[in-house]
Amino acid sequence: MSLNARIETAVAAALRSAHGADAPPQLGSALDYAVTPGGARIRPTILLSVAMACGDDRPALSNAAATALELIHCASLVHDDMPCFDDSDLRRGKPSVHRAYSEPLALLTGDSLIVLAFEVLARAAPDGPLRGMELVRLLAARTGMPGGICAGQGWESEPRIDLSAYHRAKTGALFIAATQMGAAAAGQEPEPWAELGARIGEAFQVADDLRDALCDEGQLGKPCHQDDLHGRPNAVAELGVAGAMSRLDDILSGAIASIPSCAGEAALAGMVRAYADRLVPQGARRTVPGE
Ligand code: IPE
Ligand code: IPE
Ligand code: MG
Ligand code: MG
Repeated sequence: MSLNARIETAVAAALRSAHGADAPPQLGSALDYAVTPGGARIRPTILLSVAMACGDDRPALSNAAATALELIHCASLVHDDMPCFDDSDLRRGKPSVHRAYSEPLALLTGDSLIVLAFEVLARAAPDGPLRGMELVRLLAARTGMPGGICAGQGWESEPRIDLSAYHRAKTGALFIAATQMGAAAAGQEPEPWAELGARIGEAFQVADDLRDALCDEGQLGKPCHQDDLHGRPNAVAELGVAGAMSRLDDILSGAIASIPSCAGEAALAGMVRAYADRLVPQGARRTVPGE
């Protein structure tokens, strides 16, 4: 089974478990709407790639970890789009959840997905109780305070933003969760995998800045030119397009160099290289000479 099929099958099973005869139908429908069809599913793809590089000896645990991580990501997007955060009408090419349903249902959708994520891990834990507990710990650490995505969003309410702490928590946290949870699901020590996740997260942030500056709404499926609009500090404003591209290349070389030695090291490096090509906005390299 391809990685993609593995992720979609596991995510669909988790969503099915959130439906029931006694459940409110609109909220049930909003959960499906928020999670499928997905975006790039990049975090669970990284998680499963690391698990496979480490042997993937408990695939059911790896699938649960990948699903839980993607559910947390989807929840964060639902909340992020709400009027009290970014007030975005569009997500993944369709109306955001609060636009399609309502604000109360968007709030509850995010809440329900966060709870479902941890339930998915708890249900898989009999396959390896210690690993299961470790997965809960790793995901919680990158979701809440002090260094998870809640902290990242929290920085936006501070009078002064510590930009690197903000990016590390808002964007980097779930990439670190991806590499660490992939290793932990396969029974490996998660700590040595934090650097790879952090570097991929940093690359993602630079690429996100490039996409925001260079793409249009049709290509992104969400509003673009937001950094300029909100005057947010970003890599393109700081370094220009060419500078940001070369920063991206440097970060990804560092990411590959940081891969801990493991049976699937070479294949994983190939995955990071392929990911790098997907990260670069179509046509960005061509834009450079005329910048
Ligand atoms: C968007 O993440 C949110 C950020 C952290 C910038 P993705 O670009 O991975 O979103 P999807 O899942 O592919 O839609
Ligand atoms: C979303 O960040 C990150 C989280 C929800 C944790 P952004 O607001 O920068 O991302 P987009 O542009 O809406 O995807
Ligand atoms: Mg935001
Ligand atoms: Mg946003």
